[in-house]
Amino acid sequence: AKNNLVNIVEVGPRDGLQNEKGQVIPVGVKVELIDRLVDAGLSTVEAGSFVSPKWVPQMGGTPDVLKQIRSRRPNVHYPVLVPNQRGLDDLLSLLDSHPALTDEIAVFTSATDAFNKANLNCTVAESLQKLQSVVSTAKEKGLRVRGYVSVVVVCPYSGKVDYRKVREVAKELVDMGCYEVSLGDTVGQARPHEVAEMLEEVKLSVPVHQLAGHFHDTYGTAVANVLKALEHGVRTIDASVGGLGGCPYSPGATGNVATEDVLYALQDSPYTVNGADDTPVSLEKVASIGSWISQALGRDTVQWCDVILSLP
Ligand code: HMG
Ligand code: MG
Repeated sequence: AKNNLVNIVEVGPRDGLQNEKGQVIPVGVKVELIDRLVDAGLSTVEAGSFVSPKWVPQMGGTPDVLKQIRSRRPNVHYPVLVPNQRGLDDLLSLLDSHPALTDEIAVFTSATDAFNKANLNCTVAESLQKLQSVVSTAKEKGLRVRGYVSVVVVCPYSGKVDYRKVREVAKELVDMGCYEVSLGDTVGQARPHEVAEMLEEVKLSVPVHQLAGHFHDTYGTAVANVLKALEHGVRTIDASVGGLGGCPYSPGATGNVATEDVLYALQDSPYTVNGADDTPVSLEKVASIGSWISQALGRDTVQWCDVILSLP
């Protein structure tokens, strides 16, 4: 039987907020965001990053965010980004005293040296080398590890990307022990046919059930790219409530595909979105979270969530 269950990894509290300029978003707002997303039925909510606060100030409060989450229940995961050994050490010492805070990390690298140097201050080969021990130590400590490959179609610094490189890096992450690799159109410029070509190349080395799609929406193609990825067998999609987000090291890039747009596009389709404990993810709840967080961040544009909420 064909598997039509789609998993959404909600990245709003991390990818969505990491790039917000101006005042640091209060821990209480981040916690409320995460708790409401879980209440809406989402079962994986990226909660923050253990990166340098000098590089990404908005993620500085992640330990406090993890401590204050109230929505914990079985089968709900709150992964955090870990860029290097220092980030893992910080997380593990927190878990020593608070073991239940998270059971999953995400490591990240990219398909081009130019982007990787901007994002992680080292080449792709250097970052893969450093991640070896990060991944193995995390797994020894009982954490699940997800991997990200950024700039899988276009690089903001070096242009068109060689999909064979994406394939090679994704395979290395899986060989290292990542249970899944999320393929990022960081710039948000990919077109559906390019996503298809890229995926077919990567699938030559990585089974499609270990791949996820992570599409930013700068050029308005993110929902189309999600549907194209589903057509090509991908069943895990990263999305961000309200379409929040952007990468500090990808100039001009806008947010991820909006979670409510993915939910809307898949309603009444052959696909079912997998919620926590088989409860469906609520489009209405996610849309109202999108509306609330957009207001909390002072965004005055009309978001799709408001349109969805106003439908009969
Ligand atoms: P570096 O400057 O090369 O690091 O940065 P370093 O090892 O030389 O250390 C410099 C200072 O940072 C030291 O402190 C370290 O202790 C400290 P000092 O001596 O100056 O006081 N430091 C840390 N502090 C806290 N946590 C840490 C840490 N590591 C070192 N983990 C580093 C290297 C990796 C730290 C830096 O490049 C960094 O933090 N990068 C993270 C960038 C980031 O978070 N980007 C956004 C997430 S990725 C993304 O958005 C893409 C994605 O969405 C997918 C897609 O869309 O494609 C996932
Ligand atoms: Mg991203």
